Amino acid sequence: MKDQSDHQPQKTLTTRQGHPVTNNQSQRTIGSRGPATLENYHFLEKISHFDRERIPERVVHARGFVAYGELEVTGKIGDEPASKYTRAKLFQEPGKKTDLAIRFSTVIGGRDSSESARDPRGFAIKFYTEDGNWDLVGNNLAIFFIRDAIKFPDVIHALKPDPVTFHQEPNRIFDFMSQTPESMHMLTHLFSPRGIPATYRHMEGFGVNTYKMVNEKGETFLVKYHFHPRCGIASFTDEEAAKVQGQDLGHASRDMYEAIEGGNYPQWDMYVQIMEDHEHPELDWDPLDDTKIWPEKDFPLRHVGVMTLNRNVEDFFNENEQIAMGTGVLVDGLDFSDDKMLVGRTFSYSDTQRYRLGANYLQLPVNQPKNAVQQTNQTGGQASYYRDMAPGQNPHVNYEPSMHNGLHESTPEGDFHPPEITGQLTRSVLERRNDYQQARARFETMMEWERDDLVNNMGNLLSQCERDVQERMLWHFLLVHDDYGNRVGEKLGISAKDVSHLEPLPKQVLTDEDQRRLKNLG
Ligand code: HEM
Repeated sequence: MKDQSDHQPQKTLTTRQGHPVTNNQSQRTIGSRGPATLENYHFLEKISHFDRERIPERVVHARGFVAYGELEVTGKIGDEPASKYTRAKLFQEPGKKTDLAIRFSTVIGGRDSSESARDPRGFAIKFYTEDGNWDLVGNNLAIFFIRDAIKFPDVIHALKPDPVTFHQEPNRIFDFMSQTPESMHMLTHLFSPRGIPATYRHMEGFGVNTYKMVNEKGETFLVKYHFHPRCGIASFTDEEAAKVQGQDLGHASRDMYEAIEGGNYPQWDMYVQIMEDHEHPELDWDPLDDTKIWPEKDFPLRHVGVMTLNRNVEDFFNENEQIAMGTGVLVDGLDFSDDKMLVGRTFSYSDTQRYRLGANYLQLPVNQPKNAVQQTNQTGGQASYYRDMAPGQNPHVNYEPSMHNGLHESTPEGDFHPPEITGQLTRSVLERRNDYQQARARFETMMEWERDDLVNNMGNLLSQCERDVQERMLWHFLLVHDDYGNRVGEKLGISAKDVSHLEPLPKQVLTDEDQRRLKNLG
């Protein structure tokens, strides 16, 4: 912590109306023993502001910590000029630096919960670019539990505490997951030794969803974002996490704060993976499916720059509780894909932020596009405190078009070849689901000790579940890999034979490999 104890002249305490406070120790009362009076302005202002100190915490990712820094780019994407893939200005010139704020978080616990839970970690960056803000709201794991935004409230309800007992229940979690085969890949990562990052400095970051880049010619490319920590990856075992949690619920925020205060600035290398923008029928998974990674041997990591964090917040509430990021916040040269999670997320973030922070949340300093102009015709709303006017603009004109010195549309954005979309309106699941293959590939690359850890972590929670949930989870694990299933089964006292009677889930699609494994169960 900075030394605040130097002998500065005393500074006067005032009210928010600018009145000096002459007595901050006693309310106004009639005589020294009361009763109190209502004309007690300073006391009433002080206590009623205190009564309103909390705003709704984030519905997910409630506990987090913000730091500031910059992204310095190489001007390239791998060995090629960045302009080949994107016209976004922040990537173009070698050595160009863009200011940023990053918020690290846990997902499920409340605002004051433990930072050593087995839980994904948020890795959400707000880039203050010259073209306005770009938010990249990612996690420390490259994939997610589900692939359609309509299931998000369900997966979160299952992971959050029980609505009656307010206790997080393995049986509720695995009841949901057992009916959601696409979650097996994420669960295999989350329960692996990488499932509890040791600190926020020692973890990776991923955009998770598939985005697009757009170049000057209007050509589009599918893209995934990656960040690798220069100080390496470090994780806790369940036992280490329990020990840390017993001493400090906020060890990861403290570690980040202290590293930055000490000048030990954390750094991450930023990479992208690129794919041509089409359906890629040659793949047995869909590039728009966020339960899948893009194998690096086929889609190599291409370096784009280095992110450095070098400044702490001055006020936790203003800068951490009030920062608002979302997947809709993109700049020219970066775009959405049709990833069905991404579209749902894009609605959800600004919707929750209008509820959590109010209609004028983008006027808060941490959310303003501080390196771009903000000139809108938006007027009023709760807690509005300025109009986003251009210098010299006619203040009477808050509409467009106008002949009287108002705001005008900018020149059209550069070319963009929009996809041509035809098709029937439907509610359906991606065809190429292949729910087990990447979980299997992950399990196959695990060393013996990693498999032991995965099976122990999984077994410990599953042993608290009811038999039908255990059996269905085991059935999935056996379809992923014999060794995975058999080992978890051993922990639960259930064999492959015991689950061989289970039919695939309604509407589940199995690959030939899955079918082969299913036949072998008996
Ligand atoms: C926060 C919704 C999937 C990463 C949030 C918040 C909501 C939300 C409502 C709270 C935002 C706020 O109060 O400011 C959703 C929905 C999803 C989804 C509807 C699926 C359709 C994901 C995925 C990731 C992710 C796949 C990982 C890439 C985050 C992060 C935060 C967050 C990092 C915290 C942002 C911050 O630090 O302020 N999400 N989310 N979410 N979400 Fe998601």
